Amino acid sequence: MRYLYPVLFFITSLHAVDMRPLLFNGNCVTCHHTSRTISAPSIVEIKENYLRAFPQKEAFVAYMSTWVAKPNIETSIMHDAIDKYEVMPDLGFDISTSRDISAYIYETDFSQIEPY
Ligand code: HEC
Repeated sequence: MRYLYPVLFFITSLHAVDMRPLLFNGNCVTCHHTSRTISAPSIVEIKENYLRAFPQKEAFVAYMSTWVAKPNIETSIMHDAIDKYEVMPDLGFDISTSRDISAYIYETDFSQIEPY
């Protein structure tokens, strides 16, 4: 039993680590650079558009996470981007992961992050 405590502590402390930056950097940054626009709008540009439409966090996260879980033309709020780059591919995210990433985007000031 006494060997179990360090193990339990380790598992609990893993939960305290914020995995959202990893999820964002591992899955989104390939296309959405911080501020440069190459193959897709930059994350700064996307965030500006979404903040304009949904200033409140709950609405921002709800709309973006639903869209990212199932990208489509009908519910896009960036039709100019679709005309330019075509609609974003479906990356197969479940809604809960998509919500975590969207909340991270809402909370993060990308101007403070090393440009990528
Ligand atoms: C393979 C490239 C690629 C990857 C990877 C990618 N995106 Fe996109 N994304 C695009 C392109 C291209 C657009 C612009 C066209 C559009 O809006 O569909 C876009 C648009 C968006 C939009 C704007 C939606 C709208 O209203 O039109 C959001 C939000 C978004 N991406 C979030 C994400 C998030 C979050 C991730 C990571 C989980 C991600 N994207 C990963 C290519 C990508």
